[in-house]
Amino acid sequence: MSINVPRGTKDLLPGETEKWQAVEELIRDTCRLFQYKEIRTPIFEHTELFTRSVGDTTDIVQKEMYTFTDRGDRSLTLRPEGTAPVVRSFVENKLFGLPNQPVKLYYTGPMFRYERQQAGRYRQFVQFGVEAIGSQDPSIDAEVMALAMTVYQKAGLKQIKLVINSLGDTESRQAHRVALSAHFSPHIQEFCSDCQNRLEKNPLRILDCKVDRENPLMATAPKLPDYLNEESAAYFGKVKHYLDILNIKYEVDPNLVRGLDYYNHTAFEIMSEGEGFGAITTLAGGGRYNGLVEDLGGPESPGIGFGMSIERLLLALEAEGQTFENLPTLDVYVVAMGEAAKDKAVSFVSQLRQNNVSAEMDYLDRKVKAQMKSADRLNAKFSVVIGDNELESGKISLKYLANGNQQQLTFEEIVENFTEIASKATEELA
Ligand code: HAM
Repeated sequence: MSINVPRGTKDLLPGETEKWQAVEELIRDTCRLFQYKEIRTPIFEHTELFTRSVGDTTDIVQKEMYTFTDRGDRSLTLRPEGTAPVVRSFVENKLFGLPNQPVKLYYTGPMFRYERQQAGRYRQFVQFGVEAIGSQDPSIDAEVMALAMTVYQKAGLKQIKLVINSLGDTESRQAHRVALSAHFSPHIQEFCSDCQNRLEKNPLRILDCKVDRENPLMATAPKLPDYLNEESAAYFGKVKHYLDILNIKYEVDPNLVRGLDYYNHTAFEIMSEGEGFGAITTLAGGGRYNGLVEDLGGPESPGIGFGMSIERLLLALEAEGQTFENLPTLDVYVVAMGEAAKDKAVSFVSQLRQNNVSAEMDYLDRKVKAQMKSADRLNAKFSVVIGDNELESGKISLKYLANGNQQQLTFEEIVENFTEIASKATEELA
């Protein structure tokens, strides 16, 4: 019996991984432009980290965590998201003491949630996220959103929209919570058992319920923006002001609540409007989490960030018909005829590689025709054939496969001048 990958996970094979590398490079470049530095935290953490931050009434904590007891009887959890681990590390490593504040961090790595698998939803997925911790300036909220939008735009996505909302400060949220309880409690029997529990513990989570989504009481529920106090409303106004300065278009959606408990003030999601992306349209989500650093034992340090799945970014690109250009290809395929030629091929390939020219050859003792086929299949730019004549004269013909043009050169000339030769060949073709 063969063994398959676990449900909700997938292998990334050559052909696909090149696209991932291109996206990862784009992410690194963009973070460098915005001055966010990379942080890497462990794949698993103490379970309590997530119950305390993400919130024990959330779907993530209640239903989706991969939690296990290790041999030392500790409860550990494969990270379902990146914010709590980053904040833990910020506190543990006293990053709040760094001279440069806010501390601007980014991460890419696998996250784990036991969710029902569908296009764009996996049990292991890769999240790219950023966290800016240590500032409550609304311009940093706008910067974080701008960074996410920049990554999508640079990747080539056109049909995306930014949706924002304000969840307000503690006082505003408390007022909203009271109103929500009053709204739902007379009819709570019509709701699922999860929602019945949520009414007591955290009525905001009812708005997030996947089971009772269609219940008419959802649409008429009290809206957060109507409960914002003056300070919270002013903060939201400034965030919008900075988005305007940055020329970033947005939609305000008073129903946007987000599925994690640590948020306050700014909440946002970036949605795909492209056709064919399926039921899931959220590409990225984030928001402000003033208070989380303190909840996890640090000093007062307000933060904001977002997370985006790389899988969904690639799906959205595909749905928009975008292709990746400039993916790395093979520069030279070296064909060898006979034993002596094989020896030369081994050293020639090695010299090319040492000079940063990607090179490949045959390792299966195949006939020349089959070797040429490999060159095609590998999408090589050039090929050379080494036989007795070439060994004798020291000259080989370098063939540009896009148009079949050939030029006679010495082995050394190819190794030393490859970049010029290649750009000339491309120019001639254009
Ligand atoms: P989240 O909304 O739970 O927020 O997830 C953010 C993004 O992760 C989603 O928009 C989606 O792109 C991706 N994602 C989540 N679950 C899955 C899944 N099962 N399969 C594929 N992709 C998925 C957070 O995780 C917060 N930590 C974001 C944040 C950072 N807020 C502040 N800082």
